[in-house]
Amino acid sequence: MTEPGDPAPPHRFPLAVIGAGALGLHFVSRLAPVVPLALIARSANRAADLAAGVDVGGHLYQPTVFSPPFVPEADWVLILVKGPDTKAAGRLAATMAPRGVLSLQNGLTETALRSVCPAGRVGQGITTAGAYRDGARVVPTADGTTLLPPGFEPMAAWLAEAGFEARISPNIAAERLAKLLVNVAINPLAAIFCITNGALLAPPHRVLLDALVDEAWPVLRRAGLALDLGAAREWVAEVAARTGANRASMLQDILAGRATEIETITGALLAMAAAQGVVLPTHEAVRTLVRRLEGASAATSQAPGGLPD
Ligand SMILES: NC(=O)c1ccc[n+]([C@@H]2O[C@H](COP(=O)([O-])OP(=O)(O)OC[C@H]3O[C@@H](n4cnc5c(N)ncnc54)[C@H](OP(=O)(O)O)[C@@H]3O)[C@@H](O)[C@H]2O)c1
Repeated sequence: MTEPGDPAPPHRFPLAVIGAGALGLHFVSRLAPVVPLALIARSANRAADLAAGVDVGGHLYQPTVFSPPFVPEADWVLILVKGPDTKAAGRLAATMAPRGVLSLQNGLTETALRSVCPAGRVGQGITTAGAYRDGARVVPTADGTTLLPPGFEPMAAWLAEAGFEARISPNIAAERLAKLLVNVAINPLAAIFCITNGALLAPPHRVLLDALVDEAWPVLRRAGLALDLGAAREWVAEVAARTGANRASMLQDILAGRATEIETITGALLAMAAAQGVVLPTHEAVRTLVRRLEGASAATSQAPGGLPD
């Protein structure tokens, strides 16, 4: 029952985005002129701040923004929260009666989302778009390339109309595994050693980088990775070099005392290995180290305002 003072029941939107963070705001500020769009923030306070306007790439953007429990229905829902918040965002998406729910998060989140969104299509794409938060403002760093699974054609079309390079990939499962390989190798080591991505290419860190690639490769290969071992090594080194000056998001999370995406990244690989009956001791050790670091630096945290991975 509606109480006096409650907002009017929201209507149905073609598109909603859950996650008003760096990447979410980068995407929605560009998508808003293309398609009626509801941005879903975590709290009423955050929604009020955003409704007043947010600086995205030097432009003031005023989203149509909602927060639980007053969220509208939506045909398509894009999930752009960090890994630990995936199930909460998925449960929220399920209340919006969507035709499809798409994750563009790092790591593997599709299974977790499907477990809480039993109806409708659920899928995970990948993106090399980039953005970071600098205080209240969002700084986009790259439009990148976004690949979506078959079935999400309307979302691909809106992204393309908004100027992003976006398309449906028939090989999305293999593309996701290639991205996971990069994330399991670069992100935890950057966080543990507190170094930029490029520094991983030099000794002594390079030994561990190669060890993580070599250990992950057979598991990912059996799961459908399209790269042979030589190409996998080259691919990870090429990404580390190309993003050499960047501080990986896992490092930024550790420095800020936030939970990291270690479970949806390394944890996802370890779950895959366990299902294959394989143990990955180096990745286990890396997960343990990152878990220990999580939260430990909160007292000395200082948001670095670095670049995304
Ligand atoms: N940033 C990049 O360049 C980049 C590039 C490629 C992939 N990605 C991936 O994209 C995902 C998002 O990254 P990001 O950098 O945009 O993270 P972010 O800046 O931390 O933004 C995440 C946002 O989600 C919000 N949120 C969390 N739980 C929520 C919930 N239940 N309901 C509504 N909103 C919720 C957070 O709200 P609060 O602020 O209230 O916590 C935050 O604003 C991650 O998986 C990341 O790995 C990021």
